Amino acid sequence: MIEIKNLSCRYGNNEIFKGVNLKIEKGIFAGIVGPNGSGKTTLIKSMLGVIKPTNGEVYVNGKLVKNRPPSRIGYIPQLETIEWDFPVTVEQVVMMGRYNKMGLLPWSDKEDKRIVRNVLERLSIIQYIKHHIKTLSGGEQQRVFLARALASEPELLILDEPTSGVDLKTQHDILHFLLSLNKKGITIILITHNLNAVAAHLPRIICFNRGIIAEGTPEDVFKPEILKKTYNADVTVLRSGGLILMANAKPLNTDD
Ligand SMILES: Nc1ncnc2c1ncn2[C@@H]1O[C@H](COP(=O)(O)OP(=O)(O)O)[C@@H](O)[C@H]1O
Ligand SMILES: [Mg+2]
Repeated sequence: MIEIKNLSCRYGNNEIFKGVNLKIEKGIFAGIVGPNGSGKTTLIKSMLGVIKPTNGEVYVNGKLVKNRPPSRIGYIPQLETIEWDFPVTVEQVVMMGRYNKMGLLPWSDKEDKRIVRNVLERLSIIQYIKHHIKTLSGGEQQRVFLARALASEPELLILDEPTSGVDLKTQHDILHFLLSLNKKGITIILITHNLNAVAAHLPRIICFNRGIIAEGTPEDVFKPEILKKTYNADVTVLRSGGLILMANAKPLNTDD
């Protein structure tokens, strides 16, 4: 579904990564993990044609991505990067998912309205349909973006840290919702810091830090030496049966 070939990206003189090669198969649920500032968002943006790479190519469904997002991709950006300067309701935000699909025509018909209501119901946020998005909590805003992406009826969903800053129950609900979408055939790429959750549920993990450190099943990649290379920190890995649990190896040293 996605093929990244020899991809390099930089901001000015700051090279973020170079020579990245990656294939994402149709139907998979892949997790991308890595520390802050390691280039995960940059990688995603270059897949979407939002950032122009300095080298290399990205193909989505065999077509070269150039300058603008390929069709039928739902993208859920990192929340803290969004500023709500103008008042906009939940319904208007989710309806944007429909406009992208239709091209640039900013109007909606009955079918669009039905689809929007339907996704809001599935995500249990229908009660906020006329509310301004600014007035919603972080977890609720995250669902609105998920709803907007789903309204475009995507084949591929890309989520950038959807569970950062939301409570445990919401994290759990979002992951289970994504798993059910994946079962229905939607390919998903999830950037997250929640190692234990992806270890338990995702078939494919990519460890990223200014390049691909490792990729494979949770079993393959969640090893102390790979996590050390990824995070520049010691991570304890506990394995028991099929379960993998990870934790910071060192308690905080208050003398530092
Ligand atoms: N628009 C930008 N202009 C300049 N530098 C940027 C920009 N976006 C990100 N960076 C820098 O690129 C590096 C990687 O950022 P990013 O891809 O957002 O990492 P991650 O998503 O893994 O936290 C960081 O050092 C960040 O400061
Ligand atoms: Mg990021």
